[in-house]
Amino acid sequence: MSGRALAPPGRRLCEVTENRESRGYRIFSALDSSGPTPAPGQFYMLAAARGWGVERGRPYLPRAFSVAMADGVQGGIRLDFLVEPLGPGTERLARLEPGEGLWVTGPLGVPFTRPEELASGGPGAILVGGGIGIAPLAILRRTLSARGVPSRVLLGFRDRTRSGGLELFDCSEVRLASEDGHVGHQGMVTDLLSVLLHGDDASGGAVYACGPPGMLEAVRQLCVRHGVVAELAMEAPMACGFGACFGCAIPLAEGGFMRLCVDGPVVRADQIASALVPGSGH
Ligand SMILES: Cc1cc2nc3c(=O)[nH]c(=O)nc-3n(C[C@H](O)[C@H](O)[C@H](O)COP(=O)(O)OP(=O)(O)OC[C@H]3O[C@@H](n4cnc5c(N)ncnc54)[C@H](O)[C@@H]3O)c2cc1C
Ligand code: FES
Repeated sequence: MSGRALAPPGRRLCEVTENRESRGYRIFSALDSSGPTPAPGQFYMLAAARGWGVERGRPYLPRAFSVAMADGVQGGIRLDFLVEPLGPGTERLARLEPGEGLWVTGPLGVPFTRPEELASGGPGAILVGGGIGIAPLAILRRTLSARGVPSRVLLGFRDRTRSGGLELFDCSEVRLASEDGHVGHQGMVTDLLSVLLHGDDASGGAVYACGPPGMLEAVRQLCVRHGVVAELAMEAPMACGFGACFGCAIPLAEGGFMRLCVDGPVVRADQIASALVPGSGH
C-alpha cells in the first residue's frame, strides 16, 4: 500500500505483550523495538524463543504470518497477528504468553498496491477475506481509511467455532457470510462479491482478497469475468521467507515460476493461471 518496507538483516527478539482468544482464533501482539513499520500484505517469519527447535523437535523452522495490525507505541511498534492453531508451529504461537520472547524476521514480501495505481479510479476498494485470511485485510482497511479511500469489506467464515478477528476491523460496514448461517448471508463470501460486482459499477475499483485457495480462485474468476483488477495475498509452504530455498515457488500464467516470499505474497490475479496452488492454504 505504502512502499514495501525492508526487513533489517537477521532475526530480532521481540517481547509478547498480549494474547487473547477470538472465537476459535487467537490474536497475539509483540513489541518490535527496532523494525520498520510494515505495509499491508507484508509478513513476518515467527518463532517462539522457548519450546521451539531442536531440543523439542517440531516446530523447527519459523512460520510465516501476515501482519494484521501495526501501531506505533512507546518503545516501538506493536505488531498484531491472528493465528489459527493447526499444527505444532501455530499451536505453539497460539500459546505465547505476555513477557515471552518471540523471534521475528521481517517485514517481508510485496505489499498490496494502492487502488489508484492498480485501477482507473472510481469506487475504491473491495476487500474480500475468508477465515484466517482476514488478517492482512484488517491493516489494509485501516490504511485505506486513513488515506480517505472508500472500501467495502466482505468477510466469510466456515462456522461459528472459527470466526474470530472481526475486532481488528475498526468499522461497522462489514458484510458477513457464513457457511453454517450463524451470521450474515448463509453461503460463501464470494456470493456477496458476485452480487456487488453485478450490481455496481465496480470496474473502476480494485479487489483485494486473502483466504483459502478455493475462495481466492473463485475471486480470481469473478474478477476476470467482470473485468475488475484484483490482488490476491497467497500462501505456500515457506521454509526461509527470503528467497533462498525455492520451497514457495508457484507457476505463473505466462510460464515459469515466482517465489511467493519475495515476488509475493501479494500477486495480481492475472499473473497466475490459478490460485489452486498445491500445498497452499489450510
Ligand atoms: C505469507 C503467509 C502468511 C500467513 N499468515 C498466516 C496468518 O496470519 N495466520 C495463520 O494462522 N497462518 C498464516 N499462515 C499459515 C501458517 O504459516 C501455516 O499455517 C503454518 O506454517 C503451519 O505451521 P504448523 O507447524 O502449525 O503446521 P504444519 O504441521 O506445518 O501444517 C499444518 C497444516 O497446514 C498446512 N500448511 C503448512 N504450512 C502452510 C503454509 N505456509 N500455508 C498454508 N498451509 C500450510 C500443512 O499442509 C498442514 O495441512 C501464513 C502463511 C504464509 C505463507
Ligand atoms: S520460502 Fe524460501 S524461497 Fe520462498
